[in-house]
Amino acid sequence: TVFPDSIAASNSVAARIAALIRDKQSRGETTVLGLATGATPVKVYKELIRLHKEEGLSFKNVVTFNLDEYFPMQPNAEQSYVTFMKQQLFDHIDIDPANIHIPDGTLAEADVAQFCINYEQKINSYGGLDLQILGIGRTGHIGFNEPGSAPNSGTRLVTLDDLTRRDASRDFGGKENVPTKAITMGVGTIFKAREIILMAWNLKKASIIKKAVEGSVSSEVPATYLQLSDKVEFILDQDAAAEL
Ligand code: GLP
Repeated sequence: TVFPDSIAASNSVAARIAALIRDKQSRGETTVLGLATGATPVKVYKELIRLHKEEGLSFKNVVTFNLDEYFPMQPNAEQSYVTFMKQQLFDHIDIDPANIHIPDGTLAEADVAQFCINYEQKINSYGGLDLQILGIGRTGHIGFNEPGSAPNSGTRLVTLDDLTRRDASRDFGGKENVPTKAITMGVGTIFKAREIILMAWNLKKASIIKKAVEGSVSSEVPATYLQLSDKVEFILDQDAAAEL
């Protein structure tokens, strides 16, 4: 779906999330959301905060799982996805902190594999993700599933692509300061969500969106795996859709 601009697109995604939360709330059920970081979802979170403050949308029955976190990473660091999520969403809504899940960047490397198994089990214990939102990296990554990721991959420790680290260098004051690794939900983890929305804005995403939507399905561009599922929607602004 192509919107004239990223504000209209983001508002429509936020409206869908709000409708899902309200629908499940009316049946006394919990909504399980898969959340993403990066610049792309910021306007969605902004609109969700507005819906909370002005239209009574409550997150009391919402459980969240974030896609990824840099490794190693302290939660209180400026660049952590914990800090990002607090600033962009969690500090402004009524979510129970116990319902927030973000991969732990503080673990000893030897403990990461068990943590990842537990993360998957926790998602399953809530009945799986109702909706996963995604951005896309210029390598074609979803979460931090870089080129080479398998379609059935689970939550795991990955090595970041050079382009991804270059793209993150501004946040870290130089590429050399960007962690070389991250913990990410796998492609298989993402695929288990009942609904998946990938969002992309701006011309700088046009070429990777063309590859993701029209290119042949390949581990070289993990986002192409999304072509294999009928529960995936791409929500784009006109610029990101320019090469389609
Ligand atoms: C990071 C995140 C991804 C995100 C990507 C794109 O790599 N781990 O989940 O999709 O950045 O970022 P942006 O939305 O800022 O373009």
